Amino acid sequence: MKNFITIEGCDGVGKTWQTNLLKQYCLKNGYDVVFTREPGGSEIAEKIRNIILDVKNQGMSDLCEAFLYASARIQHLHDIVKPALEQGKVVFCDRFIHSSYAYQGFGRGINLDTVVHLNELAIGEYTPQYVIFLDLSPEEAFKRKGGADKNDRMENVDFSFHQRVYDGYKHFANANPDTFVCIDASGTVEETHNKIVAALKQKGIL
Ligand code: TYD
Repeated sequence: MKNFITIEGCDGVGKTWQTNLLKQYCLKNGYDVVFTREPGGSEIAEKIRNIILDVKNQGMSDLCEAFLYASARIQHLHDIVKPALEQGKVVFCDRFIHSSYAYQGFGRGINLDTVVHLNELAIGEYTPQYVIFLDLSPEEAFKRKGGADKNDRMENVDFSFHQRVYDGYKHFANANPDTFVCIDASGTVEETHNKIVAALKQKGIL
């Protein structure tokens, strides 16, 4: 879908930081943009987010988790993404379907066809035009953020999980070179920001 851009990467790559910097850049330069995030991003979807990430929900099955992410996605698309795109805005979404493919598919080990099919049902024609993938290995990413967040159920899993997530992202990046915009995120915050802006200009988004 034209003007729908998602931002992806492993936990700790500095995605939130970069997304905020990009938002400031867009606002300063007068672009008509909306920044949003998943899971959550709208009132009902945020309630689903709280259930997913709650550390008390250790007993949640992998499939239940995948369906909850997809449910939150449907609601967030309905409430935020679709209306903004219809108004001609550029929408930047912090995480989207490729998070489910990488985390629930590769990370949890749910059959990838199942996760893809579920998400295709959830999003219909709203596939991202470009996926900005912040590329940094989980070793580097966790070093950077100083370990896992104890209050986030998704971060309290063994390290091999995050390695599989990273492998998943690389798989989709290699399989979709026209959609994935891979940004080396190993440099300084400023360097990565400049790379993102340059790539978006090159794609004609900014
Ligand atoms: P969040 O605190 O928003 O992490 P981040 O700042 O890294 O984006 O937590 C979201 C967590 O949910 C994160 O660990 C990735 C995970 N996730 C999935 O497993 N599947 C999904 O479809 C989405 C959107 C997120």
